[in-house]
Amino acid sequence: MPSPLPFCELHLHIEGTLEPATIFELAARHGATLRDATPDELAARYDFANLQGFLDLYYENMGVLRTEDDFAHLAEAYFLRAHRAGVAHVELFVDPQAHTARGVPAATVLRGLDRAARAAEERLGITSGIIACVLRDEPVASAQRMLDEVLDAGVPLLGIGLDSAEVGHPPRLFRDVFARAADAGLRRVAHAGEEGPADYIREALDELGAERIDHGVRALDDAALVERLARERIPLTLCPLSNVRLRVVDDVARLPFRTLLEAGLVVTVNSDDPAYFGGYLDDNVAALRNAFALTDDEVRLLARNSVEASFASDARRDELL
Ligand code: HPA
Ligand code: ZN
Repeated sequence: MPSPLPFCELHLHIEGTLEPATIFELAARHGATLRDATPDELAARYDFANLQGFLDLYYENMGVLRTEDDFAHLAEAYFLRAHRAGVAHVELFVDPQAHTARGVPAATVLRGLDRAARAAEERLGITSGIIACVLRDEPVASAQRMLDEVLDAGVPLLGIGLDSAEVGHPPRLFRDVFARAADAGLRRVAHAGEEGPADYIREALDELGAERIDHGVRALDDAALVERLARERIPLTLCPLSNVRLRVVDDVARLPFRTLLEAGLVVTVNSDDPAYFGGYLDDNVAALRNAFALTDDEVRLLARNSVEASFASDARRDELL
């Protein structure tokens, strides 16, 4: 069924759209050797015990992304698939440190993504922005260097985010990085409360000035926090299929989806790393629809929430609502 309204996708790691077949195609292009003989053999290993198990493979696979053209090709394929899913606006995450550590400059990465984004706006009518994420399991000094590099890349940047291995890497460590990003005019978001405690969500708000929380399902462990998120209309970017594949919950029906909605939270649905977790935005919406018997009005509410939660211009938001 076509989406009843255009959606904004607000939690999408562009490197997480790298499909097994594309990994093989890029490896052949660069003469790189892979551990597996076929895309199917690689995909058969997409059985993750937790976030770290996924991240290990996610960082390994992105080794085939080397040139500006590679990043443009990756993002072009995503925009085409997102268009089919009913996505009209995307705020995509990228992990520059994962590429600079391999000798690929941040400017190469951002130029490729920006080229694809411009083409997607022209050809598909999809608007977008780029959010550079800090790898929270790397040192603060590395995050500071990353911020300098992305600000100097000569490519428009929408925001700064925080991702990678959560537990043991609290948001407060990156307070100064986020303050500097805010001074540079960047919007601020952070992964918090995926595997980590509700306290990390509080820290993301208080120490980083996060305007949205990515995942945030653990907020429900703290009633006062839930009340605050509702009062301040801080959106949560939920990723249902991700939560199942990373074993945050056993199946989609076990997500506290209705509890979060009934608490008055601005809940949005997103695909996180669709090449790894079994589906793009439309598949995530369908999974929620099936698990919770969502009505058309409830799906429309999710679409509206995604527009409200986006950083799109007022004119673009009016268009999408
Ligand atoms: N969580 C944290 N870091 C990530 C994720 C995620 O789901 N995907 C890519 N980096
Ligand atoms: Zn994520």
